[in-house]
Amino acid sequence: MTVRLCPRPRGPLVVELEEGDSLEIQRLDGSLVDVAGVRKVRLCRCGATGRVPLCDGSHNRIAFSDPERDEA
Ligand code: FES
Repeated sequence: MTVRLCPRPRGPLVVELEEGDSLEIQRLDGSLVDVAGVRKVRLCRCGATGRVPLCDGSHNRIAFSDPERDEA
């Protein structure tokens, strides 16, 4: 089992799974995010998403940047 976490510059943290891997993502309220069968999950790290904890592309709208981690 290899789970790869890849932060995208000015974007989400991408979780990449290999065939046969499974992933559970739990919200603060204890409910689970449905990611069954998904091989790539984009987790929001900008805080602007309307689909917490998943990225919905809102980082583009707010021109998200993390100057300590994102390269120019
Ligand atoms: S990182 Fe994409 S919506 Fe937050």
